[in-house]
Amino acid sequence: MGFDEHALVYDQQLRNGLQLAGDGPEWFAEQRVRAVRGHIDRLGWTVRCVLEFGCGVGNHVPYLRNAFPGSRIVGVDISQQSLDIARARYQGSDVQFHTPDSFTATGEIDLIYINGVFHHIPPQEHADCIRSFRRLLRPGGVVAVFDNNPLSLPARWVMSRIEFDRDAIMVSPRRLARLLSNEGFGVAGVEYHFIFPRMLSFLRPVETSLASLPFGAQYCVLARLPG
Ligand SMILES: C[S@@+](CC[C@H](N)C(=O)[O-])C[C@H]1O[C@@H](n2cnc3c(N)ncnc32)[C@H](O)[C@@H]1O
Repeated sequence: MGFDEHALVYDQQLRNGLQLAGDGPEWFAEQRVRAVRGHIDRLGWTVRCVLEFGCGVGNHVPYLRNAFPGSRIVGVDISQQSLDIARARYQGSDVQFHTPDSFTATGEIDLIYINGVFHHIPPQEHADCIRSFRRLLRPGGVVAVFDNNPLSLPARWVMSRIEFDRDAIMVSPRRLARLLSNEGFGVAGVEYHFIFPRMLSFLRPVETSLASLPFGAQYCVLARLPG
């Protein structure tokens, strides 16, 4: 299934699915990008160009722009309709959108950011996809992959309510870490996010100390090319 047919209603479908969580897509996008910014700071890595792989309609773009001011943001997606919406939403010399085939740059990207994409890619294509990241990144470049935790019942429940997730095949963080490692990336860590819904937000301060346990609705695999 392609995302072209969902592009116009993507946000509404996502918002409906997330209703029980109590926070909207914007809040989740901001938290993810904030976590990645923290990792980049801890690694002492300079980011001048961010590629969002599977950017969809561009929901993470404003947060990537804020977190990495002055950087070039490149959104890549196979859905032309989604890219058209993203282009209409975000303009400026710092942001551009491409299909994977039309973005041919090599070794220019400092950070590849991904959310909710691998569970839409057929498993037999995962390795090729990760291999393509090698070509895009400069030495030392970082990949941050967020996806939905197969062990999380809330994540499964949210996905069951979302039309565009009908064909999804959940991917374990162990699998992604192994594939990244097979392609020469050093896996810097796996952490879990989004344990508590908004109604229990007073508990969120403890989430950081639970990040190594598979309780969160999403995980993030952080990996890096040798410098
Ligand atoms: C669930 S949406 C997530 C969109 C965005 N990352 C977000 O969090 O709002 C999944 C996106 O991955 C894109 N996608 C699926 N397979 C892809 C591939 N092989 N290469 C690039 N994008 C892909 C889809 O077109 C869709 O826009």
